[in-house]
Order: sequence, then structure tokens, then C-alpha cells
Amino acid sequence: MQADHEASEKSTTASATGRLSLSLAEIIRGRRSVRRLLDRPVAREHVLMMLEAARWAPSPHGRQPWRFVVLTRADVKHALAKAMGDEWRRQLALDGQDTATIDLRVRKSYERITGAPVVILPCLYTVGLDIYPDDVRNAAEVTMAVQSLGCAIQNMLLTAYALGLDCGWMCAPLFCPDVVTAALDLDPALTPHALITVGYAAVEPVRRERLPLETLIVRFD
Ligand SMILES: Cc1cc2nc3c(=O)[nH]c(=O)nc-3n(C[C@H](O)[C@H](O)[C@H](O)COP(=O)(O)O)c2cc1C
Repeated sequence: MQADHEASEKSTTASATGRLSLSLAEIIRGRRSVRRLLDRPVAREHVLMMLEAARWAPSPHGRQPWRFVVLTRADVKHALAKAMGDEWRRQLALDGQDTATIDLRVRKSYERITGAPVVILPCLYTVGLDIYPDDVRNAAEVTMAVQSLGCAIQNMLLTAYALGLDCGWMCAPLFCPDVVTAALDLDPALTPHALITVGYAAVEPVRRERLPLETLIVRFD
């Protein structure tokens, strides 16, 4: 499991209103990871709009290799966060981290999950992908599915931002998929790939700098 608090945040209250008039470019640049959310409910309709946007992502052969778990109930979020925390505690101890650090990291992760009004777990669903006689092409097929899951998640994040919401992406489920599957009693054909917290920003996050475009384009003809 990776660190779930990658950037420090300024303690100013966000005003997440009026984003619907933003252009697509403004929404793309404006979207940010928010790691502390207000205790303010999110409309079910907005969650459905996020998932509707995910539905339209590109996918290999158009197979849509994704499914989504949506959690809003406090008891379910608690059970999931507790199970994931117990596993993370075990993994951090294996890494040799001291007890105080482990306690702090696990507690913050727990608070981040249980403090989110809505939690969405995008899951990879590879049933229906092409099957080849060789490993290279089978691996490429799964990679394509993961790539498209990322596209679906980005659609959700952009839609959330346009609606005045903010999200946080936690990779934690990737590091304990079996724990998540058991905690939520999921179909074993689903592999949870991320945990997206959704809500209204409690703080304005510090944004990460982007590399200059000329660094990214390694060849243009
Ligand atoms: C695949 C992936 C995994 C991520 N995992 C985490 C995570 O576990 N915890 C976290 O706080 N942020 C996580 N993030 C968010 C990144 O830290 C964040 O997108 C990056 O720092 C850029 O900041 P921005 O989203 O505000 O532009 C993840 C993002 C991606 C795409």
C-alpha cells in the first residue's frame, strides 16, 4: 500500500461552486486531488452523473472492462477502512516501520476513507476480453483493460470537478485486493483497482507542478 497523503494542504475552505460554466480545458487543468473533504452529503444524482461519464470512456474492443462499487453507508466504509488498515499495518511492519509511524499512517488513511461522503471503487472486470494462446498478447489485453479503466476514472474525476465536487485517488486497493473483495463481499471476477473519495473540498490543495511540454514530447516528427 502506498502513502495516502502525498501533498500538504493549505487550510482554506474551498468554494466549489460555479464550475459548470468552465471550458473543458479549464476543467482539465482545474481538477485536483483533494484529500480532506467536508462532512456534507453528495447528491446521488451527481454520483450517477460521474458513473455515466465513466461509461463513455474508450475501451479495448469496446468491452468496457470495468464495474464500480459505490459506498455511502458509514458502517460499510468503516468495515472497509478497518480491514484495509489492518492489512496496511501488517505490510508496514514488514517494511520495518516503527509503531508510531504505522499508527499515524493507518489512522489518517482510515479517516480519509470514513470521512468521505461517497467512496467509489473502480474495479477491473476482465471477463469478456480476448484470450490468446500466448502470454504476451494476454498481458497486452489486460494492460489495455487497465488503461481504459484509467480513462473511465478520469471521466469521473472531471465530471465531479465540473459539478463542484472534488475527488481523491487512493491506490490502496491495488495492494490488498483480496482484503477489499472480502470486506465488501465482491464477485471474485472483480479486481478493485482504486478507491476514489468524493465530496466537497475542506481545504484548497497544493498543486503539483507539471513538467514543461517540451520535456514530455520526445519526438514530434
Ligand atoms: C494511479 C494513481 C494512484 C494514486 N494514488 C494515490 C494515493 O494512494 N494517495 C494519494 O493521496 N494520491 C494518489 N494519487 C493522486 C496523485 O498523487 C495526484 O494525482 C498527483 O499528485 C497530482 O496531483 P493532482 O491530482 O492534484 O493534479 C494517485 C493518482 C493516480 C493516477
